[in-house]
Amino acid sequence: MQILILSFALTWVQTVFATASNRPLDDCISQCRTRFPSGLNMDNNRGSGATHTIMVAPEGVGLRFVPFSLNVPVGDTVRYIWTTPANHTVTLSSALAPCNKSGIADQRNFSSGVRNAKDGQQTFDVVVQTDKPQFFYCSVQQHCNKGMFGILNPPTFGSVSVASIYDTVPTLGAGNEFLSNEISSSKVSQWGADISLDGISPEYHQAVAENVLFTRAAMHASVGQVERREEGAEDAKLRLFSRLTSILSRGGLEDSVH
Ligand SMILES: *[C@@H]1O[C@H](CO)[C@@H](O)[C@H](O)[C@H]1NC(C)=O
Ligand SMILES: *[C@@H]1O[C@H](CO)[C@@H](O)[C@H](O)[C@H]1NC(C)=O
Ligand SMILES: *[C@@H]1O[C@H](CO)[C@@H](O)[C@H](O)[C@H]1NC(C)=O
Repeated sequence: MQILILSFALTWVQTVFATASNRPLDDCISQCRTRFPSGLNMDNNRGSGATHTIMVAPEGVGLRFVPFSLNVPVGDTVRYIWTTPANHTVTLSSALAPCNKSGIADQRNFSSGVRNAKDGQQTFDVVVQTDKPQFFYCSVQQHCNKGMFGILNPPTFGSVSVASIYDTVPTLGAGNEFLSNEISSSKVSQWGADISLDGISPEYHQAVAENVLFTRAAMHASVGQVERREEGAEDAKLRLFSRLTSILSRGGLEDSVH
């Protein structure tokens, strides 16, 4: 029975990702649909004023944006969604200082202000104005230093990629190995590997690579939600995050990001 469920889940995820194989940094709209609240506008058409969704610190994932990065054509909308009763912002920043507010005057409205879903879901829409990478972060307390930042239209195929630094930082390597084993048959296991770290402040490289792992785990966890009736699926999902968090924290994101 479990093998049947597993093979069903794998077939499902392969189907989902078969269409995304040319877009390795694709968003998690399909993948997240099963996990996150329904009733959202998750129109998946591209380059035609479509809306793409990023979850703001969704329950069970902690201080992360999910997905961590999205490719979004100019003119499309990114809708940030708050679903948990905690204060967070979405604020534009830069590759050199992902945890500092951007000084670019005409983009100062890429800033949600503090929001909180304790009285209901909150949304903040950004109409994307450029193909170039744009960084964003949560400006509440030390959330960004704990990993709560992300990238729209991330640079790819540079000289130093996310994949290449898994080999150079032991805790990242351990986290990558752990997660790869957990989700080895899924194309999710390579998501974000080609994000380039060139031009991104070196002190954030590890945090970028960690965020890629957390997005993979989140995508994978949503697959588990397909089989809601399966006893223990929720526990397994939470264990995936807590184990990944514990493996990564032995190196200390807080130590490497100021
Ligand atoms: C959340 O932010 C509001 C102001 O925007 C503040 O009054 C409140 O104390 C904050 N709550 C927490 C838990 O920090
Ligand atoms: C980020 O902001 C802090 C405090 O506001 C400041 O000290 C630092 O120089 C800024 N870093 C960059 C790269 O702008
Ligand atoms: C900021 O405001 C300008 C002018 O109103 C608008 O053209 C632009 O789309 C806004 N930026 C975002 C990110 O919403």
